[in-house]
Amino acid sequence: MSERISEEKINQVRQSIDIVELISEYVHLKKQGRNFVGLCPFHGENTPSFSVSPEKQIFHCFGCHAGGNVFTFLMEIEGISFQEALMKLAKRANIHLDLHDQKSTHPASHESTRLIEIHELVRKLYHHLLVNTNEGQEALEYLHKRQFTKEMIDEFQIGFALNKKDFLYNYLKQRGYSEELLIRSGLILRNDDTLEYYDRFRERIIFPIFDNKGNTVAFSGRILKEGQPKYLNSPESLIFHKSKILYNFHKARPNIRKKQFTILFEGFADCISAFQAGVDNGIATMGTALTDEHVNLIKRITDRVVLCFDADSAGQNATYKAGEMLQNAGCSVQVAIIPNGKDPDEYIKTYGPDKFMNEVIGSSLTFMAYKMKYLRAGKNLHNEGEKLSYIENILVEIAKLDKAIEQDYYLRQIADEFSISLDALKKQLRQIAYSIKKGKPIIKTQINANDSLPNKDKKQKHAYYNAERMLIAHMLKSVHIANKVQEKMKHINFNIDEHQAIVAYLYAFYEAGNVPDLSNFLTFLNDPELQKITTEIGMLNINDEPSDKEIQDYISHVLKYQKMQKIEQMKAEMKEAMRVNDSLKAAELAKQIMKLL
Ligand code: GTP
Ligand code: MN
Repeated sequence: MSERISEEKINQVRQSIDIVELISEYVHLKKQGRNFVGLCPFHGENTPSFSVSPEKQIFHCFGCHAGGNVFTFLMEIEGISFQEALMKLAKRANIHLDLHDQKSTHPASHESTRLIEIHELVRKLYHHLLVNTNEGQEALEYLHKRQFTKEMIDEFQIGFALNKKDFLYNYLKQRGYSEELLIRSGLILRNDDTLEYYDRFRERIIFPIFDNKGNTVAFSGRILKEGQPKYLNSPESLIFHKSKILYNFHKARPNIRKKQFTILFEGFADCISAFQAGVDNGIATMGTALTDEHVNLIKRITDRVVLCFDADSAGQNATYKAGEMLQNAGCSVQVAIIPNGKDPDEYIKTYGPDKFMNEVIGSSLTFMAYKMKYLRAGKNLHNEGEKLSYIENILVEIAKLDKAIEQDYYLRQIADEFSISLDALKKQLRQIAYSIKKGKPIIKTQINANDSLPNKDKKQKHAYYNAERMLIAHMLKSVHIANKVQEKMKHINFNIDEHQAIVAYLYAFYEAGNVPDLSNFLTFLNDPELQKITTEIGMLNINDEPSDKEIQDYISHVLKYQKMQKIEQMKAEMKEAMRVNDSLKAAELAKQIMKLL
């Protein structure tokens, strides 16, 4: 953003909104002591670990570590940017923000606004053509024949592009859009020979594609009659990136959060049919393979995914690939199997929604069980060679599971089925696990908020971790204590990088003349990771007037750890000196160690 809105304005907005009131619109909150608690909207749970503090004007979830102030909450729950959250809350508080200069000085964001405007307009036009005009009649009948109800057509804003060369071109041109912009929208093309402009979509049923905020950013058109391609998509543009967009994600998001899982389909027809059948947490890829970006998008709201792809071999291969990707990303994956070679849409239309829910979704297999089925397909397990190779393949898959109980469960299953001793299987599993490990180092990276924090084990071991958090908690509440700590720790850093970063920001915050105000400080931080950690610390229950001794004790813990580290290092050096018979150096080091101790 080239021109920022002043901090005063941001503060004014923040202070006019009460966090309890805002969050109550999304979460059922109950008063408990000084705070309000409820079920966290950011992850599925049955007992409340989500807490809102009216005093501090922050929220925090002890389960998933989401946390922050009014802006952060709205950004997270609606999937919007800081600017957008700010505008929404300003509107709510009746505070006028002058954003016009900002828009016109930022060409890229200006262009995407214009492109979205065009897409919104075109979505309404196509929908109107389908439902209200004679020219749309045939398409509407086709959809009705496929059992798309009127509600679904409205809900998904399905439309129709006429069989005319330049209908849309003329319509948009009349509204004053430049040819260059129309070309960049992807909706209009130009013939290189005749230089005439023409519409991309002609005589096609139109499915609008929405981004994560609900803006129309592209279309996919299904051919009405026979012909190729069956589906034609908008090209990539400033506002449309196939690899980042999942069909129906915007609408499904709150339901996914509530139900704690999502169902991933291959096609939109399936997704819409399933919605009609009561599956409101379904999403679909745009006919392309699942990407890492898609996985990340899903992971932000749930880690349970049911794959519901076509029963044909392409669908099965896609299931295998998508399942591996999701599993590697730490998701728990299940696979719903559609019998009789149908796709989900056809199945629902043939057998009805209840059967789909009970017999397809309700009987999904775990990914491992699915793989066993998949690997066994077409094999003759009475043949000794094929049987052994099958078992070996399965063991490789079992080795990839990270829970011992799960491994044990499937090992027993194989032991039973093929009458092999469990011990023999376990032995072979260890060998396989070992060679997998040797072949490529275990890539179980866990990138998450706690990544550079000490792990649980260390947390318990090192008193400094808690001491640092307690210090920051007090520093957040008192400039006086912050100054004192700054003075005493002039030459020493906090042991945890994030803690050091937070206090550096905090010193700057106070130096700029701000008074202690957690919610205000969170906006000042402007870094989601640090915001989360700070919120968590802000929620600690601390004594309002700590004694000097208490503060000094915390500082001592921090120092002590650093001293211990230094001693460890000197001990190692001393050992080395002794090894090379440098007794002088060894003695000097010993003296220093004694002093530190
Ligand atoms: P219907 O035949 O209308 O029921 O479609 P479907 O949902 O059964 O589609 P299908 O299983 O054939 O394809 C799944 C998805 O792949 C679709 O939703 C599209 O996103 C994509 N797809 C299918 N055919 C084409 C095509 O010809 N071109 C492109 N670009 N994508 C396609
Ligand atoms: Mn279909």
